Amino acid sequence: MDWGMKNRLSRLICPKTGKAVWLAIDHGYFLGPISKLEEPAKTIRNLIPHTDALMLTRGVLRNCIDAALDIPFILRVSGGNSIVGPALSNEGIQTCMEEAIRLNASAVAISIYIGTEHEHQTLMALGKLVDEGQRYGMPVLAVTAVGKELEKRDARFLSLCCRIAAELGAQAVKTYYCEDFEKVVTGCPVPVVIAGGPKLNTEYDALVLAHNAIKEGAVGVDMGRNIWQSPRALGMIKAIRAIVHENATLKDAKKLLSS
Ligand code: 5RP
Repeated sequence: MDWGMKNRLSRLICPKTGKAVWLAIDHGYFLGPISKLEEPAKTIRNLIPHTDALMLTRGVLRNCIDAALDIPFILRVSGGNSIVGPALSNEGIQTCMEEAIRLNASAVAISIYIGTEHEHQTLMALGKLVDEGQRYGMPVLAVTAVGKELEKRDARFLSLCCRIAAELGAQAVKTYYCEDFEKVVTGCPVPVVIAGGPKLNTEYDALVLAHNAIKEGAVGVDMGRNIWQSPRALGMIKAIRAIVHENATLKDAKKLLSS
């Protein structure tokens, strides 16, 4: 791996612990201003010190994030769809590599939609992005199984998605936690991070999810709603951080929730 690519990855995955806590705030690119993300700057202000990197679009980056802030970010570069459109899977690359470099991104992210009518176009887009990433030293994060695909959240399907993403050259893969998650990790030769998905019934459920994912081999989390839609968002990110970087027990993590 070339120096630039290594350097960018080391800003995202802590070299000391080998783990990562990323805060996803890119939801607006197809969902609009969802609850608690109407004003992203306000939502994340207190969470930044406990976050290794943000995941967001160029629009939110330029308009809501102070350029003097010292926080790496993963730039979502795929889009072109919406929650009210005919097919959520109909995505393409809508932010070019030159823009990612101009903005000083530490990685770019693209969704792939395996098992949908747009499987081929999203996988070809991933290949193109990886080629450009190799040229410029930019890691690519492939995001699997969003939207309707979530219904197929089992180890067989997620292993298929993650392995394909890695085979096509993604440097890291983001997926969902599932039963037998270690099978997903074992079959994927690049780091796997988990999304949280829609808000779970309790904050503790989200801590259990993160705890299990780390125990079963995830490199970290790239979570959004289960952190910033919580009334105790600061406690949540502190607790998740302790689980990811310090192997905290659920009991200890729960204590941090109310801190
Ligand atoms: C959507 C995404 C989001 O970043 C991802 O879903 C993570 O957020 P959450 O934990 O809220 O699911 O990639 O395409």
